[in-house]
Amino acid sequence: MSREEKTYPQNILCGPFKYRLFKPYVPKEKAMALLGECLETGWIGEGPRVKEFESLVGGFVGNDRITAVNSGTSALEMALNFTKTEGRDTCITTPMTCMATTIAILNAGLKPYFIDIDPTTGLLSAEALLGVPADIVGRTAAVMTVHWGGSTANMSALGAASKQLDLPLIEDAAHALGSETPSTDCGTGGDIAVVGGLNTLSDFTCFSFQAIKHVTTGDGGAVTFRHEKDWLRSKPYKWFGIPRDERVEHILGHSSYDITEAGRKWQMNDIAASIGIASFGELDENLSGRRAVADVYDSIIPEIKEAGEGIDFPVRVRTSAGSSYWLYTILVKDPYSFSEGMRALGIEVSNVHVRNDSYSVTDPYTGGRLELAGLDYFSDHAMCIPIGPWITTEDAEFIANAAMKHGR
Ligand SMILES: Cc1ncc(COP(=O)(O)O)c(C=O)c1O
Repeated sequence: MSREEKTYPQNILCGPFKYRLFKPYVPKEKAMALLGECLETGWIGEGPRVKEFESLVGGFVGNDRITAVNSGTSALEMALNFTKTEGRDTCITTPMTCMATTIAILNAGLKPYFIDIDPTTGLLSAEALLGVPADIVGRTAAVMTVHWGGSTANMSALGAASKQLDLPLIEDAAHALGSETPSTDCGTGGDIAVVGGLNTLSDFTCFSFQAIKHVTTGDGGAVTFRHEKDWLRSKPYKWFGIPRDERVEHILGHSSYDITEAGRKWQMNDIAASIGIASFGELDENLSGRRAVADVYDSIIPEIKEAGEGIDFPVRVRTSAGSSYWLYTILVKDPYSFSEGMRALGIEVSNVHVRNDSYSVTDPYTGGRLELAGLDYFSDHAMCIPIGPWITTEDAEFIANAAMKHGR
């Protein structure tokens, strides 16, 4: 019987786990108070709470050109729709991501063109981007990079490569609220940029506030924009194309406005934003808790030097300084025996996302599973171990030592 066909008992697959990979992080009392106030106002649709949430997140990342939406997937699709131009029907991206990245590309009417990742980081590399054939570049609308687990690609190099190819760059930062990146648009603000800030090199940064993200609104997302024109376009776009901020009340009841572009019904509402505001209050603690756990793991699990079957597994992937550590990813020899060993100890582990070229919905664009050396290596070995403020130092030592034992 192959490993895939083997059936596992339910308790191995679904817990109960003592050490969880993910937990929604919302302070209940604060959220209940904000929700209660919201319900009392009688205004639960998009309103002042959404604006407040936007200014909290925008202030945090250093970019007030921000628009909140109803999911990270909508955020991606909005950014993609804004990059589309006549004759350009492709998005160059990484296959090592959540299916949401590819689904947004497909729903924006674009073809995904998957390029290889660096097997030691799981991230897109500028070299791979610069290696894309000219005819593909010529019909490409955008490049989409994904900050796997909160670790950022080399944004200076990726930004420069996108510029060289004259392509807009979108960051799928669903995992990366609070990540820092050493890439800056020189001259606009120091050596370090917070992902989504104005001094990063991308044109759009897309966040997710889905249930288990650093900040959650239940479901939600946001785009931060580099260019004011895109930001201004997003405001009506997120709600049918109605310029809600410019509405003038009309004696017949309906406000008078013109709709110049068919938008979507993607706005965030005040109920979601109330939960988000409560959750946002925990962000600093959430990030520092994750970074403290990462420090313990880093001290026990060696970093990969180079990819190859001869290496001593397990190793941790190279993670950018300032990662938000939504995931902590290690490469293990055999993910199946690793998972069996870890789960038996009550430690939830997972590969979290499956390479997107393995889904048949992408077959028309890939012709089937691709052969990309970096991707093959990473997806054959990558597993994530629990990280979050709910993991104590003792827990982290226990988990890292168990990973060293079961990952070899
Ligand atoms: C990398 C990545 N991109 C996009 C998304 C989509 O975000 P959402 O679930 O908010 O639509 C996710 C979701 O978890 C994700 O992991």
